[in-house]
Order: sequence, then C-alpha cells, then structure tokens
Amino acid sequence: MSKTSRISGFYKRTLTERANLVAEWAGLNAQERLALFGGLPADQANHMIENVIGIYALPMGIATNFQINQRDYLIPMVIEEPSVVAAVSNAARLFRAGGGFTTSSDEPVMIGQIQVLDVNDLETAAQAVLAQRDYLLTEADSVGGSIVKRGGGARDIEVRTFPETSIGPMLVVHLLYDCRDAMGANAINTAVEHIAPHIESITGGRVNLRILSNLTDHRKARVEGMIPAAELATDTLDGAAVAHSIVEAGVFAAVDPYRATTHNKGIMNGIDAVIIATGNDWRAIEAGAHAYAAREGAYTSLSRWWQDDDGNLHGSLEMPLSVGIVGGATRVHPAAQVAMKILNVQSAGELAEVIAAVGLAQNLAAIKALATEGIQRGHMSMHARQLAVAAGASSDLVSRIVQTMIEEGNIRLERAKALVQELSQ
Ligand code: MEV
Repeated sequence: MSKTSRISGFYKRTLTERANLVAEWAGLNAQERLALFGGLPADQANHMIENVIGIYALPMGIATNFQINQRDYLIPMVIEEPSVVAAVSNAARLFRAGGGFTTSSDEPVMIGQIQVLDVNDLETAAQAVLAQRDYLLTEADSVGGSIVKRGGGARDIEVRTFPETSIGPMLVVHLLYDCRDAMGANAINTAVEHIAPHIESITGGRVNLRILSNLTDHRKARVEGMIPAAELATDTLDGAAVAHSIVEAGVFAAVDPYRATTHNKGIMNGIDAVIIATGNDWRAIEAGAHAYAAREGAYTSLSRWWQDDDGNLHGSLEMPLSVGIVGGATRVHPAAQVAMKILNVQSAGELAEVIAAVGLAQNLAAIKALATEGIQRGHMSMHARQLAVAAGASSDLVSRIVQTMIEEGNIRLERAKALVQELSQ
C-alpha cells in the first residue's frame, strides 16, 4: 500500500514522536536517526570549508500533505523563519483537495560560458566556432568523467555576439552540458576550461572567463495545481471570493516589481528551505530564479494564478532549478543524506519538481493569508512563542505564556520574562 503524507495533527505531536514517525516512513536506520540531531560532525565540518571554528545549526522541519504526480512526499525543510513549514503544509493540503500537483522538468542541461575578446571579425569567429561544434563537444566529453559515463556530457555549442562593449567586441561561447543527476558546476567548469584553448585557436581571439552560468534556463522545473473554491472559504468570505482576491494578488506581483520581489521571496522561503535541507547551493538557485524573473526586461512574478469557470483557483510556477542528488554537500553532509532518504527521489529532475511544488504551495500560503486576514496574526503567535522560549519558559509553560501575551496584546520579551517568573512560582 502506498504511504500517505496526509498526517493530521503532525504538529501536535512531540518532537520525538514526529522524528519517530518520519524515521519509520523513510526506513531510517539508527545512524541516520542520530544524524537528524547530530547534524554534522566537527571533523567533517573542518574539511568542508576553511578556517572552521564551529557548527551553525538550524531546525529541520517536515512539510506534510504533499501529493505530486499522484505520489505522496514528506518534505524536509531547513529554515530559521517561523510559520513557513506550517503554512506550506496547509497549502499542500488545499492543493491535495484538487488532486495534488502536476509537475514536469527539462533535461538537466546547464550552460558553461567562455568569454572571447580581441577577435578581429565577430561573425567570422562565431561561424568558425559553430563549424567546429562536433570537435568541441568531443573535446569537452574527453574530460567528462563520471557524468559522461552516466549518459550526460556535452550537448551543443551556441554563440552570442556583443559587437559594442566598453572593452570592444565580445564573443561569448556557450557549451550546453547535460549534468544528469549532479548539479554539475565542477563538470561544466572543467569542460569549459578544457575547450578554452581550442576556442582561442579557432577564433584567433583571447579567452578571459570560463565559468558556468547560474541562469540555467535550459534546466527548468514546472508545477501546476488546482484548489477547489470551497476549500478556500473563511469564516467571513466564500471560497470564490478568496480565490478572486488571490488572483488579484497574483496580478499585483505580475505588474509591479516592488511586489514581485516580495511575492518571489515568499516562493523562495519554501524553495531555499528544501535546497538547504538537501545540501544544494541556494545562492545558485536564488541567482537563477531572480534573473529568470527578469528575463523579459522587467522583473515579474515567477508564478501565475487564475480561476476557472467554476471559480476554482489554479496556480502554476516555472523556474530554473539546477539541483543535484549526487555530489557536493548532498553526498557528504549526514543530515542532507537523511533529507534525501526521506524525499526518496530517483533523479535530480524529480527533486527539482518537488521543490517547484513547494515553491508554489509556499506562494499560495503567503498570498492567501495576505488576501484574507493578513499575515500578522499567524506571525505574532509564532513570534510570541519564540519570545517565550527566549525568556526561558519550560516547554509546559510556552503555550500558556503565548496565549496570555496574545490576549493582552503585549508581545514583548520583558512581558515573557515576567510571565516566566510569575508562572514558575
Ligand atoms: C515573508 O517571509 C514572505 C511574504 O512576505 C511573502 C509575500 O508577501 O508573498 C509573506
């Protein structure tokens, strides 16, 4: 029987109960179970970057309720911001009522760039590079290693010309490279460094930079989902009205870059959290996401929201998502490995699709709250919870202190401290 991610009241369980439940779901062994709390051993951290003096820990939460292409997923998220995990789980439940998410993704093709300067005739040089396409692809594959063995490697050559720049005419050569299940930065950088001297002799120019592009617009993931209007009803508004307000919120982000930035930040709240949990490079994903959002010259929303004739709400999202399931921190970080085991994805493309679904759900959660009660109510209770913990409240007192501060409308650290004193006596 297939497993369900629809675990009602997951948030009400204790931390240990939740960890046990997920360990059972994912079949974690004792060591993997320990990695959920042990995170990263010091000697491993010491080998990951330079000048290490410690380890900076963040909470890993689980988003429930996700159903993507008819399969259920529990989704690990690492993030410092309260409300994100609860909100995305709620949103996934709403999409689930409409049949879950449908996703797709491109082949994992990345771009490696080679900057060529001091070229006499840009057009002639560009044509000369294209004429040597097969030779260049073979050369690139000769240093491809395991990615080529797994069926990836060089796929195509593109040329772009910039006739007038402040440093003179510039030719840019793109190597399109299939990274299979790796994010692929190392493989592409190795390949472009290797073919650069060949580009110089073909063009008679001088190569300056050789590096991958984080605008990975050949490697996109897309997701779509529907929420029956009735699911969106609140105490005071009917579902179709809420759906309409959400569509209006989507248009705000589509036309206004100031709103689009915040709207996309909400999407990235979910995306980054899974990227970090799985040991992927969130700076790369962020850079690609925002560049893609500006691809038509004006910065705009990454998602789209509309209603069908029955008033049901539909949402979609498409963006570059260059993630790997092999290599990098995904392979060495014990907690990232556990996150991968919980996700149980079979390819980098599948991971990208799951992440896109999280992005769309996170977006829905934010704009639904904004278009109805506003986000402060939910945020304030999480904020109050953080203050209670910071004030030293024991776990049995946290909820009482939160409730009291909310009822009093006085959510401050001093008040939390006073309540800890009062209630501890
Ligand atoms: C807060 O982290 C994210 C939101 O601002 C996103 C949005 O405004 O859509 C709530």
